[in-house]
Amino acid sequence: MPIKNQKNKTIIAIDGPAGAGKTTISRLVANHLGFTYIDTGAMYRAVALKAYENGIDTDDEKGLESICKKIKITFKTTKKENRIFVNGKDWSEKIRQPFVGEITSRTSAKPRVREAMVKLQRRMGRNGKVVMEGRDIGTVVFPNARFKFYLDASPETRGKRRYLELIAKNEKALLQDIIDEIKKRDKRDLSREHSPLKMAKDAVYIDTSNMTINDVVEKMLRVIKERLKFGSLCC
Ligand code: DC
Repeated sequence: MPIKNQKNKTIIAIDGPAGAGKTTISRLVANHLGFTYIDTGAMYRAVALKAYENGIDTDDEKGLESICKKIKITFKTTKKENRIFVNGKDWSEKIRQPFVGEITSRTSAKPRVREAMVKLQRRMGRNGKVVMEGRDIGTVVFPNARFKFYLDASPETRGKRRYLELIAKNEKALLQDIIDEIKKRDKRDLSREHSPLKMAKDAVYIDTSNMTINDVVEKMLRVIKERLKFGSLCC
């Protein structure tokens, strides 16, 4: 999928495994800079759930492709949250159900699904001033992004974060099960044939295991400002 040189547009690409804090951190960085925030994981989740609701199997690539062609995904971001709308309906909570994470990890490995989503993501980012978060943003979607970050944390830390989120929502959860699930998902995301999770060579690596959300946001903003000494975030 060739891409035109977009060097003069400001794209901030944020990649990393599930639970590294990407979603909250990306939203805060976007907020701070007045940029649009795009959660590409939510887009893959929306496609997987729509396919599921239409009785399409996770291995039925043609069926998944037809969903990609029809689905209308939009985002609304406020200071506090990011909401996703699918064909006009708010699916923000629905796509976070654990089984959706499971099926998404399968459907997002399909080349036709990736092709359709990458095309859409490039369109969403074409005017710049975008913070885009996912697994392949700095490597495939916007390999020329002006800023690239790779956020990481140990599976134990990431599992604990997910566990605390679920407990806070009064949902039942077993820490060890969540850690095992995260390791399984990592393995699938890292080893899949198409666009596996991989750090871009020119990305800034941040291990968030022992950092607060604010620490990470501040560090990223420092990196951005440092590099901008001789330029500006024009677009
Ligand atoms: O970040 P998340 O947990 O919402 O992502 C859900 C799934 O989508 C996960 O299995 C990885 C996949 N994904 C992807 O393949 N490429 C992206 N750019 C974003 C997410």
